Amino acid sequence: MKSLVVYYSRSGNTRFVAEQIAKEIGGDIEEIIDKKKRKGLLGFVLSGYDATRGRGTKIEPMKRSPKDYDLVVVGTPMWNKRITPAVRTYLKGNDFSGKRVALFCTSLGSESERVFKTLKELMPGSSFVGEITISNAKKDREKTEEKITEWAKSLIV
Ligand SMILES: Cc1cc2nc3c(=O)[nH]c(=O)nc-3n(C[C@H](O)[C@H](O)[C@H](O)COP(=O)(O)O)c2cc1C
Repeated sequence: MKSLVVYYSRSGNTRFVAEQIAKEIGGDIEEIIDKKKRKGLLGFVLSGYDATRGRGTKIEPMKRSPKDYDLVVVGTPMWNKRITPAVRTYLKGNDFSGKRVALFCTSLGSESERVFKTLKELMPGSSFVGEITISNAKKDREKTEEKITEWAKSLIV
């Protein structure tokens, strides 16, 4: 089974989780790069606004295609209880139908129902095999690693 982990990360938490998952499932990994500047206070405020409006963004071309994989794991940080523009654009530009798909979200602890609902809507025809939310991923490193190890086991069949 070939696996791919794809994620967007503004400040490293989602990257940290994505790397753990890729290590555990023995898969490839690729980061989605947002071309829009999102650092600093203004970046923070505009990012939240873009997410709330359900906006996409311009992303760098991806090297890997989900077409070449059996399992695709997609991760996003939570912005204003929503998915990030970069992940939205990535999902809109790819076809995941017929794929096994697992979803993860990182946050500070808000309810993540809406995030998973949106991700699923953007990946019609996929078979969803798992979802997990990790809060304070880098702050509680050990807890994150434990959770991911356990979760990853359920994705490998
Ligand atoms: C613009 C913005 C909005 C956010 N909104 C939420 C939120 O609604 N609920 C929450 O729990 N965390 C929220 N966060 C925190 C992030 O989801 C959390 O820190 C995440 O792990 C960051 O991932 P990253 O380090 O990979 O970018 C927000 C962060 C940003 C930058």
